[in-house]
Amino acid sequence: MNNGIKMPAVAFGTYLGFDQNGVVTPKNHELRDVVSKAIDIGWRHFDTAAIYGTEQELGEGVRMKIDDGNVKREDIFITTKLWNTKHKRDQVAQALRESLKNLGLNYVDLYLIHWPIGLNEDNSHSAVDYMETWRGMEDVQKLGLAKSIGVSNFNKGQLERVLKEGSVKPAALQIEVHPQITQSELVDFAQSNDIVVMGYSPFGSLVNRYDMPLPPPRIDDPVLVEIAEKYGKTTPQVVLRWAVDRNIVPIPKTMKVHRLEENINIFDFKLQKDEIDKINAFDKGLRYTLPSFWQSHPFYPFEKIDKPIDDPFLKKE
Ligand SMILES: NC(=O)c1ccc[n+]([C@@H]2O[C@H](COP(=O)([O-])OP(=O)(O)OC[C@H]3O[C@@H](n4cnc5c(N)ncnc54)[C@H](OP(=O)(O)O)[C@@H]3O)[C@@H](O)[C@H]2O)c1
Repeated sequence: MNNGIKMPAVAFGTYLGFDQNGVVTPKNHELRDVVSKAIDIGWRHFDTAAIYGTEQELGEGVRMKIDDGNVKREDIFITTKLWNTKHKRDQVAQALRESLKNLGLNYVDLYLIHWPIGLNEDNSHSAVDYMETWRGMEDVQKLGLAKSIGVSNFNKGQLERVLKEGSVKPAALQIEVHPQITQSELVDFAQSNDIVVMGYSPFGSLVNRYDMPLPPPRIDDPVLVEIAEKYGKTTPQVVLRWAVDRNIVPIPKTMKVHRLEENINIFDFKLQKDEIDKINAFDKGLRYTLPSFWQSHPFYPFEKIDKPIDDPFLKKE
């Protein structure tokens, strides 16, 4: 990264999704055990967020392996994120201390502003400027609570503003990247400013996403199958490698041990330029993370749509 610290090239995602009861939280130490298995397999980078409810089990899994003497804290890279209701400058250190308490650790490797959007405790829109939040991020880095700081779901204009007005350059930008949304302009902008891009939801429509209609490429897409057969890999591995070959750190999530093996076994081949271009050609600018219920917020980062969905965070009477 631009501060000289190294980030492992692939990250394990720990967001377990959303159902009618809200964010799905881990049960019966399942995530703790998957994390500990992941470390055995070779995973070194873990992505979480205060809102995911997974910091605690992630921390337990990591600490179990440290206590066993299998790895040292400095071998592991933990990314977590500040939630929207903690955007005031003096709330940032408090929020990170809470995350560290959940994780059972005394620093994180990377702390990200999850969204440029500030909210009040009741989830109504707050006018707090993300540049005020960024000052709080600079504070936590100075305090040693986060080794590096960055942003997530910021658009180009918002990232430009942080570069211009901030005292510390963001080390990383985390955005949605998969074959249906290649984000080439934003990726080029970030990378030309020495900002590492992390790509979330890396499988796009290869995997099922709720009951949404899914455009190509699906997991058996002929273009991906042809590339996969050439290298003796699976199509999910090809898509992860496509990210790595664009210098993007993909963040695949799985709770299945055989897939932990599959998703990290991508470092013994490399795609050719024409293969990268073929996958880029699926781009439709299609987002699976589209919180249109925030689109009247002054710092909403994405294109607006005609019929925004209801806010699942707002408590209904
Ligand atoms: N910054 C943000 O706002 C933001 C937003 C969304 C996500 N994220 C991060 O990105 C991570 C990943 O995102 P995501 O969960 O949306 O998408 P994803 O990793 O692209 O997809 C996850 C799905 O793929 C399946 N899967 C995993 N490996 C597979 C394989 N090799 N073959 C077939 N299916 C496979 C998983 O099922 P099983 O679990 O059953 O294997 C799961 O259903 C999150 O966990 C989170 O850390 C960040």
